[in-house]
Amino acid sequence: MNDSPDPQSLVLVGYRGTGKSTVGKILAERLGLPFADADVELEALVGVPISAIFAEQGEVAFRDWEERVLCDLSTRPVMIVATGGGVVLRETNRRRINSFGFVAWLTADPEVLARRLRADPSGLANRPALTGVGTLGEIARVLEERTPLYRAVADAIVDTNQRTPAQTADAILDLWPHS
Ligand code: S3P
Repeated sequence: MNDSPDPQSLVLVGYRGTGKSTVGKILAERLGLPFADADVELEALVGVPISAIFAEQGEVAFRDWEERVLCDLSTRPVMIVATGGGVVLRETNRRRINSFGFVAWLTADPEVLARRLRADPSGLANRPALTGVGTLGEIARVLEERTPLYRAVADAIVDTNQRTPAQTADAILDLWPHS
């Protein structure tokens, strides 16, 4: 959590399939602010898709790229940032997002996440498996590890189970003390 008085970016965190990128674009458009998707920035920096980075360089290298991209984003003027689902794994990243942003954690039940991920085959193809135990098993296992980390950084928590992306954006605007 942060209590910085400076104008802050909005940083969206949460598991894959919670809608960070879609919601982030809606908010940026509504507020007339720039939007950055950390995964897209990362792919542009490295020059290959995330799936290829995992396959060719491994997850640790991917996390190094992710940290570097986040560092770059933290230096930009106020904006809306959608992060990758694993950004909270590193303490450096957790400290960084709290220092430059108001952090909104988007949540959803594992079954809802699995349904959304399966409904987006192209997204699934570029989301490398993190555990090898199947979609629902992976969600349960990864969420068990990450839930305390998401909770630790969150300034606001928004349940997306019953919300459309536009409704999630509304809920965030109710909670984000931007001017
Ligand atoms: C990851 C989530 C992905 C992407 C990468 C790793 C994760 O981002 O950063 O595949 O560890 O949960 P999205 O949450 O945008 O899918």
